[in-house]
Amino acid sequence: MVQQLTRLDTDKIRPDFPILKREINDRPLIYLDNAATTQKPQSVIDALSHYYTTMNANIHRGLHTLAEESTTAYEAVRQQVATFIHAGSAREIVFTRNTTESLNLLAYSLGSRLKAGDEILLTEMEHHSNLVPWQLLAQRSGARLVYLDVDDEGKLSMDQAHELMGPRTRIVSVVHMSNVLGTINPVSELAEMARSVGATMIVDAAQSVPHMPMDVSTLGADYIAFSAHKMLGPTGVGVLWGREELLEDLDPFLGGGEMISVVTREESSWAALPHKFEAGTPNIDAVIAFGPALTYLSLLGMRNVQEHSRDLIGYAMDQIGGLEGIQIYGPSDPAEHGAVCAFNYLDIHPHDISTIVDKYGIAIRAGHHCAQPLHRRLETPATARASFYIYNRKDEIDSLVAALREAAAVFGHEGS
Ligand SMILES: Cc1ncc(COP(=O)(O)O)c(C=O)c1O
Repeated sequence: MVQQLTRLDTDKIRPDFPILKREINDRPLIYLDNAATTQKPQSVIDALSHYYTTMNANIHRGLHTLAEESTTAYEAVRQQVATFIHAGSAREIVFTRNTTESLNLLAYSLGSRLKAGDEILLTEMEHHSNLVPWQLLAQRSGARLVYLDVDDEGKLSMDQAHELMGPRTRIVSVVHMSNVLGTINPVSELAEMARSVGATMIVDAAQSVPHMPMDVSTLGADYIAFSAHKMLGPTGVGVLWGREELLEDLDPFLGGGEMISVVTREESSWAALPHKFEAGTPNIDAVIAFGPALTYLSLLGMRNVQEHSRDLIGYAMDQIGGLEGIQIYGPSDPAEHGAVCAFNYLDIHPHDISTIVDKYGIAIRAGHHCAQPLHRRLETPATARASFYIYNRKDEIDSLVAALREAAAVFGHEGS
């Protein structure tokens, strides 16, 4: 386990991630697809196995020792999440399956309050998970979707936000850090505007919570959503944070076991927060193994994680940006650009780029990254994307640049 560090030391971090010892196509793995999901430290992998080896039991139900141990371990992680994001209490932390489910929960449960003519304000840079649930709600309720445009630098206009927010705006739901552009949006400013018109402010924090300190007590949002798997934790665990008084007032999303207080043949009343939002047996093992992931990041320090991300994206934009025929999307100032670098290179299709660099052991992603409206705005069907995390080093970016030069050669662009 890492010691408290003032800066990230990748030489100390990398041995904690067994998958980084793998070779792909006889080359050491260079994993640059962290915006899709991150790799897991040994402590997280061990926690999964430890859970099944020593304490597997359903939670919140049994009175036997195993049930009490697993319940205690599960609830301890809820408290850890609350501390990690500076929530007022663990009652404000709802475990879901992922960011997508957290946002669907909100769209469903807030939806009953919307009527025809109400407006839901989104941005053109949303991931489909913060777009499709609102489209479904708009179809159900007759509410209208309104979009903030993305400018040529990949940013939003606060002037346009002022213009678009008004008495009809009921919900504002905005991504904190774009998974394509890397843009870090001024969500606190947007939250203030939302509050001034009486709208609910939701932040898709899937890419921001893993990369920067998060303090929901000062953010200004009403709800945020994020996923454990993008911050060293297992898949199958998402978080919905909401202000306690708002969650109290919100109807449940799914009905079933463990989310009730009293059930009669006709009706039911709900369990106390946060359990009224957690119907059925949850992803117990994965929630428990999320604990060591949070511990790992806390020991590194989220300011250091953020500094490391900034250092890598600055270097990547310099080095990848130095290739002739490259177009990098998003803000040109690395200080405003999260740790994702989406690009197009010459006339090579991003899928071909991804396939060629994989031959050098390098994992990047290619496609629309679940952001088709944004790609339409960028006038390209697809981009290639390298995204970084705590274990990545600058020499891995050098290897990507070398592999991109090879890709150019394969496609007949000698000397690019
Ligand atoms: C900005 C953003 N929002 C939402 C999601 C959805 O996350 P999940 O697939 O864990 O639900 C992602 C995943 O890539 C994302 O990058």
